[in-house]
Amino acid sequence: MNLDELKREAAAQAVAMVEPGMRLGLGTGSTAKHFVDLLAARMKRETLGIIGVPTSEATRIQAASLGIPLTTLDETPELDLTIDGADEIDAKLRLIKGGGGAHLREKIVAMASKKMIVIADETKLVEILGKFPLPLEVVPFGLAATRLAITRAIEASGCRGELTIRKRATGEVWLTDSGNVILDAALGTIPAPEDLAERLDSVTALVEHGLFIGIAKTAILATSSGIKTMSV
Ligand code: A5P
Repeated sequence: MNLDELKREAAAQAVAMVEPGMRLGLGTGSTAKHFVDLLAARMKRETLGIIGVPTSEATRIQAASLGIPLTTLDETPELDLTIDGADEIDAKLRLIKGGGGAHLREKIVAMASKKMIVIADETKLVEILGKFPLPLEVVPFGLAATRLAITRAIEASGCRGELTIRKRATGEVWLTDSGNVILDAALGTIPAPEDLAERLDSVTALVEHGLFIGIAKTAILATSSGIKTMSV
């Protein structure tokens, strides 16, 4: 199986875990996209009575086009389950997310859920987080000052690396669904994710970082030799 087929396989396993009547958080990215497709296909075969909260405009558009009933966290502030992808996953189910720039809404939705399940292909499992640049969503106002504060927080946590503002292929600065910018921190390794997360949390204009710690309880990893489920 190629990587995309593995992603779809992980998504299919997660769809099978959806129970009738669930209030679901719908993740963002190519793996979550498979989940939304396969969920809609299951809903055609049986009455599920689920309702979803999308974690991005892209997912909202996809889910709406497939006829999945949608709500918001304002109308439905508590969810049963969020299913989402990840950019990196370690053995403690600490994650890096935000490769698609949606980690702020993804974290808000996951935190409003009783449970988060991560779905991914096996390449996302890493020994140490950090090879994937850590996405940092920041308010555009005062960007240079925020960069400095972030650099200090990163260095105090024993990391170093370049901060790059995310841009579109056209060269325009990439804006999130909330109108913020993303700095990608190329750290290489993050020896102490909890410590770094805490330090980044204290940077005022940093709205949210892509470290998800203690949030996901289960990961469904599709490997070339079958499905591997990890739980903490
Ligand atoms: C979106 O912002 C991200 O957090 C995605 O969940 C993550 O990038 C995983 O994406 P893929 O499923 O496309 O690898």
